[in-house]
Amino acid sequence: MSLLYVLNGPNLNLLGKRQPHIYGHETLADVEADCRKLASELGHELRFHQSNREYEIIDWIHEAREDGAGIVINPAAFTHTSVAILDALNTFEGPVIEIHISNVHKRESFRHHSFVSHRADGVIAGLGTEGYQLGIRRVATMLKTPKNG
Ligand code: DQA
Repeated sequence: MSLLYVLNGPNLNLLGKRQPHIYGHETLADVEADCRKLASELGHELRFHQSNREYEIIDWIHEAREDGAGIVINPAAFTHTSVAILDALNTFEGPVIEIHISNVHKRESFRHHSFVSHRADGVIAGLGTEGYQLGIRRVATMLKTPKNG
């Protein structure tokens, strides 16, 4: 059994209330419950976190370096701004999947660039909160078959 991290960036605590026409009606607690269910079905432990503070996300990535096997991350707005989160992810050796609930490429041009994508093994965007499930499945697959992942 390995430990997976699901990390969420700023404003995702408001999921369900925040621009539901873009991000849907599910809350972050709903997403967490679904992620926990899937992780346990796949035989993995899960740490699920959200923060509006960049340094906390960096600290969890550092923690994952010690304890974690894979990371699913929705960096939210930090996607487009944070070299520091990219640098932290570059110190992590396991699979990293980047998630966006919305299709960032269909939106404003400032959302088209992701610092995190320079490190991510895969990017899921525009599939709603289902993207988290797909991200967890992908990390689990990559952990099983690291070479072919
Ligand atoms: C987001 C997309 C980002 O551009 C935005 O800043 C978010 C959420 C998404 O999940 O679609 O906060 O990462």
